[in-house]
Amino acid sequence: MSRSIIIGTGSALPERVLTNFDLEKMVDTSDEWITTRTGIKTRRIAGPGENTSNLASLAARKALAMAGLTPADLDLIIVGTITPDMTMPSCACLVQKELGAAKAFAFDLNAACSGFLFGLDVADKYLCANPAMKILVIGAETLSSRVDWQDRNTCVLFGDGAGACVVTGSDADRGVLASRLFADGSLWELLHLEAAPSQNPELRRPGQEGAAIRMAGREVFKNAVRAMADAIQQVLTQEGVAVDRVRLVIPHQANIRILKSLADHLSLPLEKIYVNVDKYGNTSAATIPIAIDEANRAGRLREGDLLLLCSFGGGFTWGATLIRW
Ligand code: UT7
Repeated sequence: MSRSIIIGTGSALPERVLTNFDLEKMVDTSDEWITTRTGIKTRRIAGPGENTSNLASLAARKALAMAGLTPADLDLIIVGTITPDMTMPSCACLVQKELGAAKAFAFDLNAACSGFLFGLDVADKYLCANPAMKILVIGAETLSSRVDWQDRNTCVLFGDGAGACVVTGSDADRGVLASRLFADGSLWELLHLEAAPSQNPELRRPGQEGAAIRMAGREVFKNAVRAMADAIQQVLTQEGVAVDRVRLVIPHQANIRILKSLADHLSLPLEKIYVNVDKYGNTSAATIPIAIDEANRAGRLREGDLLLLCSFGGGFTWGATLIRW
């Protein structure tokens, strides 16, 4: 039986680092509040010339290099993003152009912070039909362009970045084992962003209410923990795998307290939960592929290890995926 395996990973982050101390000078906040309530210390902010499509392309080139492929080998490019450079064309088409991946078709997928997980699931379904395909699944965001920098409830949380994985079919006994995805549009108001294209300067003017991300943090927090723990339980039950057999959980990175709660729900030590929210904050669809790339390059993923991914984001959208690395 053919399964979808990740054969290359890559990530890209903007150069500029914004610290909690920088934010103390911008809004009524403190390093102490941000650190204790979120675990975030720094985040990366895109500068001139850094946008969603070129961060995505940089991450993609690194993933292709690891996979030993060239852009010409690609059949499909999927970009999970809520901050595409433009509404049309898609970010994926801009990445296709930037890479020169002439053979690949390309589209964006909007599942907010779950964008990478949903994209991986779509790739997995294509690969069921045609295991020879080479698919690039990317999560990429420049949320700094869509944050209200006067709203302390949100501006301290988000950052920019991109992560990419090259996925293909394999007969080896590893790859994506199970995936469960969910949505609940009835709660959309708790986390939403009315405007989309990050390059539209009109949307950066003061008073453009719909242009910035809005979140009822406490409500989102409660839903996030419950939903991710439930999705994880479902994939583990589907595969008949006990949670203590999982080598590493890579959850969406929004808040260290969410990650600790998740560890408690799963009765797992925190060491088994990958954490980099302290460095990059919440980069929405990019958090999981950035973390996969970091863990992979640090040697934390060995062939045959069980890896669990889980996400929760605006929509609401959420899910979990179990992979044998
Ligand atoms: O990526 C999609 C999923 N997103 C998430 O999962 C995020 C989920 N939510 C969270 O991570 C947390 O709810 C937050 C970090 C957003 C907020 O933490 P909280 O412990 O839920 O705080 P809160 O919203 O209940 O606010 C507590 C207090 C409030 O003051 P009062 O009303 O108690 O006087 C806020 O005004 O903290 C205040 N506050 C701040 N104070 C200093 C809110 N933001 C800040 C700030 N600095 N940046």
